[in-house]
Amino acid sequence: MTRIDFHSHILPNIDDGAASVAESLGLLRMLKNDGVETVVATPHLYLHRESVSAFFKNRERSARELNQAIKTEETKGVEYPKIVLGAEVYFTQGIENLPLKDLCIEGTDYFMLELPYASFTTMFLNLLANFIFSGNVKIILAHIERYFDFSESKMVAQVLNHGLVSQVNCDSVISVRTRKAALKLIESGDIKLLGTDLHSVGHRPPRFAEAEQIIRKKLSDGAFENMMNTAERILNGEE
Ligand SMILES: [Fe+2]
Repeated sequence: MTRIDFHSHILPNIDDGAASVAESLGLLRMLKNDGVETVVATPHLYLHRESVSAFFKNRERSARELNQAIKTEETKGVEYPKIVLGAEVYFTQGIENLPLKDLCIEGTDYFMLELPYASFTTMFLNLLANFIFSGNVKIILAHIERYFDFSESKMVAQVLNHGLVSQVNCDSVISVRTRKAALKLIESGDIKLLGTDLHSVGHRPPRFAEAEQIIRKKLSDGAFENMMNTAERILNGEE
């Protein structure tokens, strides 16, 4: 089993995540200490702020700077998790016109979607369904549990019915306020992926090992392994 963090803002100077290469390296070391071997870098893409071409250019620059620093560190014997490039794309009008395949997680046809933090209306659910069914990509819904704060469970359940793959944040497994709901969705199989959604050491630092411990303690044997195995199959193009 490989520990895979499926959601992170690890790339430096691209969004509200790591603010420098040094910070990225520090966060990567924290992940490594937690046993994480692969981390999916999912910088935000907000179409109302940035064009897709600008995003790609930025991501390429950011990943290059980080990889150079990692290479230097590795010559000193420090080990880092492997980084896989992706994006967390905010759902906005016109999303269907994006180069969806190019925005998928490297080597896969999985596209990570962030939904608006507002109550889901029937009109919104129809728009979302149209997008999901019209595209030639598979959708990963970022931190599904966060939408329960804004929408009734039955509305969120409707989203899950569209056959999406859902991801949960480590923080939601750890927090006493959200733990019960998060664990229930993992147990039922509605949530298949785990991610730190790390931003910085001060704001949402990685707490992967803590979440792993809780899942292992509270859920049936194999629940954690199932999530990691699904993540691995997705990254290997086998799911
Ligand atoms: Fe995120």
